[in-house]
Amino acid sequence: MTTEPNSKPKEVASRSAQYTVAVALVAGLGGVMFGYDIGVIADAKVGVEKAFGLDEKNSGDLTIIQTIVSSVLIGSFIGALVAGRLCDHIGRRWTNVWGGALFIVGCMGCALSTGAWMMIGFRVAMGLGVGFSSVAGPLYIAEIAAPWSRGAMVSLYQLAITIGIFLAMLLGYWLAPYDLWRLSFGLGAVLGGGLILGMLAMPPSPRWLVGKGRDAIALGVLKRTMGSIPAANEELEAIKVKVEEEKGASFFKALGSGRALKVALVLAIGLAFLQQASGINAIFYYAPEIISNIGLNDWKFQLTAALSLINVLATFIAVFLVDRLGRRPLLIAGTALMMVAQITVGVASTWLPDPTGDAAAASGGSMVGAIMLIAIFVSVIAFACSLGPLVWLVISEIFPAGVRSACVGVATSVNWIGNFFIAQETLTLVQISPGLAFWIFAGFNLVTIIFVWFLMPETKGVELEKIEDFFKRQGAWAGRRSG
Ligand code: BGC
Repeated sequence: MTTEPNSKPKEVASRSAQYTVAVALVAGLGGVMFGYDIGVIADAKVGVEKAFGLDEKNSGDLTIIQTIVSSVLIGSFIGALVAGRLCDHIGRRWTNVWGGALFIVGCMGCALSTGAWMMIGFRVAMGLGVGFSSVAGPLYIAEIAAPWSRGAMVSLYQLAITIGIFLAMLLGYWLAPYDLWRLSFGLGAVLGGGLILGMLAMPPSPRWLVGKGRDAIALGVLKRTMGSIPAANEELEAIKVKVEEEKGASFFKALGSGRALKVALVLAIGLAFLQQASGINAIFYYAPEIISNIGLNDWKFQLTAALSLINVLATFIAVFLVDRLGRRPLLIAGTALMMVAQITVGVASTWLPDPTGDAAAASGGSMVGAIMLIAIFVSVIAFACSLGPLVWLVISEIFPAGVRSACVGVATSVNWIGNFFIAQETLTLVQISPGLAFWIFAGFNLVTIIFVWFLMPETKGVELEKIEDFFKRQGAWAGRRSG
């Protein structure tokens, strides 16, 4: 029943791959927007504070500054919830187009803001755009990709996120000294424009087309994505059977109709939350503070940039391995490595000498600092080849077509709430003790390993239409064995 990556004739696989890669790269622009909005504010913050006369030492101003930073996450949360529904009504492609349009409005508005509240409003608009594309992007790629390359293709979306973070950080750093923060926001609009133009040139998702009764157009798309006419016909028949079975399915009706969807939803929501609880954004949002705390203040920028770059590079490991090794081994091994690295940071932080101590202690401190730093790098690498790409992949592939987009919307919005809390709470935690923060994240990663071990089926190479059968039969255990 499974279609293994290697079972396709080479020329079919390569024809289909070329087309799917083009689709994934276009939808990936939404991922670059995602990363860009996380990264852009870090360096722009100082210029924004200066322009609007805000002072972090004044508690009222501090609240406004924090709201400027986090309002984008609120927008993304709302955007993800709305996008779940929108993907059904106007389609995955048009939801992406609207995501791009909102992002342009948000970026231009931020660039032209004349006051803090105006900026907050436009940061919400940026977030709405990112929220839309964070649901519609992975979903669209997963539905277009052939089963044997779906893992790698959705992982390209994560790769795009990491590129966005890196890009925004570099741009912000180059522009900040010239007080050009408005330009770094304005440039974000280019990404939104690229997403709109690229999406308009792409076909709609074949799954969505069949749901709307446009089988002939769906077949045309499938011929290109599957790489051969027989494979396209077979896939079309499988989609039609599912669409017929699920006719009239609504989210709540489907939820009440059996155990399978509930298990899938628990898995998706759990993974979405645990991805954030892994602490990855605590590292990205507060890397400079963490690096100073371990005594490497002079290297703050270079090391933060290196962390973002390693995040990009390590994602290629997942792109390469996910359809070969499978989702479960990669997710479990990567999360375990991240946990070990975080425990190392936690233990090493207790050896950090008092900064006011003598020179001998200080040299011991640099040794401990180096150990902590290496462990932080390892934890980013481990995330990049496991929880980063795999959470988006699993969320977008485990649900039945009739309620897929609504469920992806719910799970993605949980990811954004988690992101918001990490952004709010980490700084306090890091200031109390960086070690404590890492112990807590390591604890969550242990929960992830147990959660995945017991609940997540192996979906490598399986047609989207067949994945829900895992949950229908004996729950996740069946999938685990047949993977
Ligand atoms: C997460 C983001 C995170 C990024 C880091 C994504 O998968 O959802 O919150 O900032 O990975 O690469």
